[in-house]
Amino acid sequence: MTSPRSIRIFDTTLRDGEQSPGASMNRTEKIEVAQALVQLGVDVIEAGFPIASPGDFESVRDIAGTVTGATVCGLARCNDADIDRAWEALQRAPHPRIHVFLATSTIHREFKLRMNEEEVLTRAVAGVARARSLCGDVEFSPEDAARTEIDFLCRVVEAVIAAGATTVNIPDTVGYATPLQMHRVIGALRNRVPNIDKAVISVHCHDDLGLAVANSLAAVEAGAGQVECTINGIGERAGNCSLEEVVMALKTRRDHYACDTRIDTRRLVPTSRLVANITGIQVPRNKAIVGRNAFAHEAGIHQDGMLKERSTYEIMRPEDVGLERTDLVLGKHSGRAALADRAKALGYQLDAEQLQTVFERFKVLADRKKEIYDGDVAALCEQQFASLPEQYVYDGYTLTSASGATPTVTLRVLKDGDPAAVTITAGDGPVDGIFLAIEKLTGMTTVCRDFRVQAVTVGKDAQGEVTVELEHAGQVQRGRGVSTDSLEAAAKAFLAAVNRLALGASPRLHPQKG
Ligand code: KIV
Ligand code: ZN
Repeated sequence: MTSPRSIRIFDTTLRDGEQSPGASMNRTEKIEVAQALVQLGVDVIEAGFPIASPGDFESVRDIAGTVTGATVCGLARCNDADIDRAWEALQRAPHPRIHVFLATSTIHREFKLRMNEEEVLTRAVAGVARARSLCGDVEFSPEDAARTEIDFLCRVVEAVIAAGATTVNIPDTVGYATPLQMHRVIGALRNRVPNIDKAVISVHCHDDLGLAVANSLAAVEAGAGQVECTINGIGERAGNCSLEEVVMALKTRRDHYACDTRIDTRRLVPTSRLVANITGIQVPRNKAIVGRNAFAHEAGIHQDGMLKERSTYEIMRPEDVGLERTDLVLGKHSGRAALADRAKALGYQLDAEQLQTVFERFKVLADRKKEIYDGDVAALCEQQFASLPEQYVYDGYTLTSASGATPTVTLRVLKDGDPAAVTITAGDGPVDGIFLAIEKLTGMTTVCRDFRVQAVTVGKDAQGEVTVELEHAGQVQRGRGVSTDSLEAAAKAFLAAVNRLALGASPRLHPQKG
């Protein structure tokens, strides 16, 4: 068996990625990202376009001066001023690279450059020769290569390699290519350009048709040795090839691609989060590899399979991309097995009957809440372990209230199994109204010693937990209620305490941890 090829990862988050609308980063942030990229293990960092602005120049200069462990690259158009400025910025880099580009497609030649083929060829050669006179590592990109006539592309590539280019990058600048086409272009260059083995072939794909990763992988299959990409796939318009996706495709399907990279894949999620936080461009939840849902399984059948053998539904291990564990998001599609597993992980050993009760309550909650968090599961289990005979069972409330006005509360309960209700217009506000309604309904006068509200889970649909301490006839009892509706949680908490006062109950049992 032949040994795997090594694919260079060229990261352009700080250059093409920064061209995403709204993604600008300041100098300090760029250095932080560059350091994270080194830790990630990228081979080349394209740090910026030095002639574009003084800020870009300074960022490239600072990254060149601080980053070791990766080649630092600066972009330049194919003219002396750009190339010289890029070289000036790269002076302190232990491994500098000048990246020169010039458009080659008919459409760019005619409408943008107003140059014919010979003029483009001459300019490309002159630019590469100048860059090479300054720096031993020179990359040339025929911009819009994917829409360039293949004969002309082969001529340009041959000429720039002869002029000293050590890498030739084939950009699909407008994201127009298809995987088969990309494969053919790279294949044609390898077959038809006589000096092609003197340079590394690179690929640079944009994602306008959502094909950037597929096109890059097709280029690798055809023999490309470098992939240009960005963290989270950010970049001009729809973005660039996503680094995490292309790297994990190569790793996960090593059997197919027979290629390796130097990337420490466990740094993918932390680097993705850093870039998302710095640029403000958040990662969609369903984004492959680094999206919040990428390793989350909700369907009951999937969760059951995962618990039996993770490879049933998982082709990558979450820890390999830097996530701690697979998130079995509990929701309305989740089954008993996943619930029992989560309860156990939280320290609640449920017997079959308890599990059935918790599961039924869980399904009711899941209809109201999209995602069930650990705190929700714990609350459901606690209710189970805390269950004592209840004289009053909460059954609902209606409320009419306005700021500054006395509320009118109707509270419904089941008293010893029979429906009972009371309506009251009293209290300083809705919670006080509910409290007074309970006193009226139960005929028990109590003093509220403590009242606390806290969120037990996160998000807009978080569950609120209310705990109260009520005193009656020298006895103090606590009650706890949990609900997505804080007034309902308060009503449940008051009733729980009242039930205990009515029973003269001892403090509630602790769940059996195990
Ligand atoms: O998309 C493109 O063509 C580029 C070049 C500068 C490589 O970003
Ligand atoms: Zn680009």
